Amino acid sequence: MNDAPVQWFDVPEAEGLWEGDLVDAEVAGEQVLVVHHLDGTFSAYQGACPHQEFPLSYGKWDEEAGTLTCSGHGWEFDLNSGAGINPSGCRLYRYPVRATDGGAVRIGIPRDGESHYNRCREA
Ligand code: FES
Repeated sequence: MNDAPVQWFDVPEAEGLWEGDLVDAEVAGEQVLVVHHLDGTFSAYQGACPHQEFPLSYGKWDEEAGTLTCSGHGWEFDLNSGAGINPSGCRLYRYPVRATDGGAVRIGIPRDGESHYNRCREA
């Protein structure tokens, strides 16, 4: 995330999402992975893998450990922080999230004209 002002968007795909589940969503033209953690919090990351852009939502999700393994080539990420586990140097872009008591989920898209997407070369 950066310090640019953000514009908030509702994410209907994430409403009613069970704890421990995740979903792919398109938010203001950006592909976003929304995660509803077992502790009830939400986080949101770039939806395409930083390696070769496989949809991260197709990956193997371990909700207990909070880790996701990409279906493409097995890169692994910590979805509590977005940090790469294997390889360790590759971090997912993270979006700000707001969830309301009423169940609505909103994602903040920075108004900075930049791409909110990290790419990483082969480890
Ligand atoms: S596209 Fe995700 S590991 Fe290669």
